[in-house]
Amino acid sequence: MSEVSRTALENSGLEPARSMPDADLGFLWDFWYPAISSEEIFGQNLATATLMEVPLVLGRTTEGKAFAMRDSCPHRGIPLSYGHFDGKNVQCSYHGWEFDGCSGRCVVIPSLTQHDKLKVERISAVHFPCEERDGYVWVYMNEPGARLPEAVPLAPELPKFSEKYKITRLDCELPSHIDHGIIGLMDPAHGPFVHQSWFWRSKKSIHEKSKQFEPIPNGFRMSRHSPSTNSLPYQWLKKMTGEAVTTTIDFVLPNMRFEEIHSGKFWFSSRATVTPVRRDCCRIDFVAAWNLPLPIAAFRAFAKVFLRQDQETMIQQSEGLKHNPHLMLIDDADRPAKWYFALKQNLMEERRTGIPQAHPMSGPVTLHWNS
Ligand code: FES
Ligand SMILES: [Fe+2]
Repeated sequence: MSEVSRTALENSGLEPARSMPDADLGFLWDFWYPAISSEEIFGQNLATATLMEVPLVLGRTTEGKAFAMRDSCPHRGIPLSYGHFDGKNVQCSYHGWEFDGCSGRCVVIPSLTQHDKLKVERISAVHFPCEERDGYVWVYMNEPGARLPEAVPLAPELPKFSEKYKITRLDCELPSHIDHGIIGLMDPAHGPFVHQSWFWRSKKSIHEKSKQFEPIPNGFRMSRHSPSTNSLPYQWLKKMTGEAVTTTIDFVLPNMRFEEIHSGKFWFSSRATVTPVRRDCCRIDFVAAWNLPLPIAAFRAFAKVFLRQDQETMIQQSEGLKHNPHLMLIDDADRPAKWYFALKQNLMEERRTGIPQAHPMSGPVTLHWNS
């Protein structure tokens, strides 16, 4: 940009567009995040999403490969999503530059003549690794300006335990920073207050629980146990199979909670991810699969009530958080939240220094709380 035009932009009173989000928003870069559901990209349709304050344009080529680019033309910044997609290239709506969806590489600049020396293929739109799993389009969010790691890990997939199963997805947006979304997700003490329902449990059923946790790479596990019998669905499952019900719950950075329930030949597997959209907004994506005789519609009805209860609570909490209150994490109910913050801190430290950090848990530990 020339000196003149820079001054003109500054004088215009418009804020110069930030090319990079602030580095300290508490986002964990270099992980896969679900951006949209697979149904949102079809034919020559382009979809948009925001992850970690980065605007994205997404599509799927005629060959069936999903792709994601920064929704910003490298020429003058207009969102590429206003352009046209022919099943291979995205053409910018402003001056018609074309970018290969799968690589982001510029392939055409219509204004160039034989007198121009510009190497078109040297120009690229910002491009992100993109994969589809379980009906989500996942985007590997590598830090703006940083190089992609040599080996990008595989995109996450929900574990399934038989050939045939049902699968369903739900999502809900929360007006909260990712950290509040996550500690809300792993918080055992809000159950009796937020999730009272005739079909689940009543407030009176509150009792002391002891659960064993163990460290796992980048996370922690609530060890395999028989879930509390004050929940109707577990009683029903036990009656049906005549066998013990066991459940295991994992939390893994950056944002995933996996739950596996087994009883005899039946299984239920779910994953909730909390994805940072902006500093003040995150989204829970919940996917569940099972081979139980449980109709999808019935399960969705239950799950919607649950998510709605969490969402309402987080909306109320965000009212309070506007005033920047001091907050507390208490033992033992908030210990998982403390582990989350410690794991996150360690990871950032490891990435900064290259020195491996010790896991915040030195071994298995039993936590006690009433819920
Ligand atoms: S702004 Fe996209 S081609 Fe010019
Ligand atoms: Fe909840």
